[in-house]
Amino acid sequence: MIRIDSVKKTFGKTEVLKDISIDIEDGEIFGIIGQSGAGKSTLLRCINGLESYDGGLITVNKNPVHIDDKKNLRQIQKKMGMIFQGFNLLERLDVYQNVALPMKFWGIPTNTPEAKEKILKLISLVGLEEKVHAKPRELSGGQKQRVAIARALVLDPEILLCDEATSALDPEITKGILTLLQKINREMGITIVVVTHQMEVVKQICQRVAFLSQGKVLAVGKPEQLFVWPKEHEIRDFLREESDKLPTTGVNLKLFFFGEGNQRPIVTQMSQELHTDFNICWAKLEDFREDVYGSLVLNMDEKDLERACAFLDSKNVTWEVIPR
Ligand SMILES: Nc1ncnc2c1ncn2[C@@H]1O[C@H](COP(=O)(O)OP(=O)(O)OP(=O)(O)O)[C@@H](O)[C@H]1O
Ligand SMILES: [Mg+2]
Repeated sequence: MIRIDSVKKTFGKTEVLKDISIDIEDGEIFGIIGQSGAGKSTLLRCINGLESYDGGLITVNKNPVHIDDKKNLRQIQKKMGMIFQGFNLLERLDVYQNVALPMKFWGIPTNTPEAKEKILKLISLVGLEEKVHAKPRELSGGQKQRVAIARALVLDPEILLCDEATSALDPEITKGILTLLQKINREMGITIVVVTHQMEVVKQICQRVAFLSQGKVLAVGKPEQLFVWPKEHEIRDFLREESDKLPTTGVNLKLFFFGEGNQRPIVTQMSQELHTDFNICWAKLEDFREDVYGSLVLNMDEKDLERACAFLDSKNVTWEVIPR
């Protein structure tokens, strides 16, 4: 759906995007996460042609995005809705008029029965039936973002680009917005690209995620692959994993539990069977979309390691010795 191939971008002398390659598939919710200044927003703006790039190629549905090819760009942009942290609603217009705005911009009549039906349907999709004629100042942050989402959908886009769409909202409201985005993805088949620095967003809705660091893609994969036990130091730092506080003597062995594995009393069994004690020094349980992933670090004597690993293998538990 969106192919980003060796894309480079400089602002003055600063290379902001350095050889970025990402493929985003039709129908997925794809996350782009990373620290402030990593280049996330710039990349998103390159995808929808708000910003030019200096090298490589971006295509949307095989159609090259070039800022100079205005006519083509308009067609591409029509297929992409965008939402931001700041909502960007017009204060003097009510909810209905704000949602209708892109149609006006494209010269599509907004007073036909079909147009009215469509706009009202979108307003109801985002749950604002009661607020059709409210002005933005009468709405909460979450409601404003819902208006922005309805507006982004009014031209029947194939893609929805979200730049920190929930960063200004509290966790409960964020959940509601993310559930709405999931619904839009599932029911309308719209591909969604979410730029965020919030881990919760990626965990809750993204099927795949790219971790951006200083203009480079550090890793791409399923969130649970990338974040349950990241190999990259930068990702660990980003997640502020407890790994730095692990004991410096003995061996630290990390166990992974997926789904039902979370329910098994593996550690106590292992302790009994091997007639030895283990120190549990770190553990966490995380929700990734519908699944729960657990991880646990045991500290043990070097001499017990081999037997412990054999035990874990016999129970089909995934493990890894944490390197020093
Ligand atoms: N118009 C611009 N002119 C010059 N430099 C810019 C411009 N826009 C962005 N930059 C620089 O490009 C780098 C990447 O910025 P970008 O906004 O893409 O980061 P980001 O990952 O979205 O960060 P944040 O999480 O803070 O939104 C930063 O160093 C920023 O200062
Ligand atoms: Mg940004």
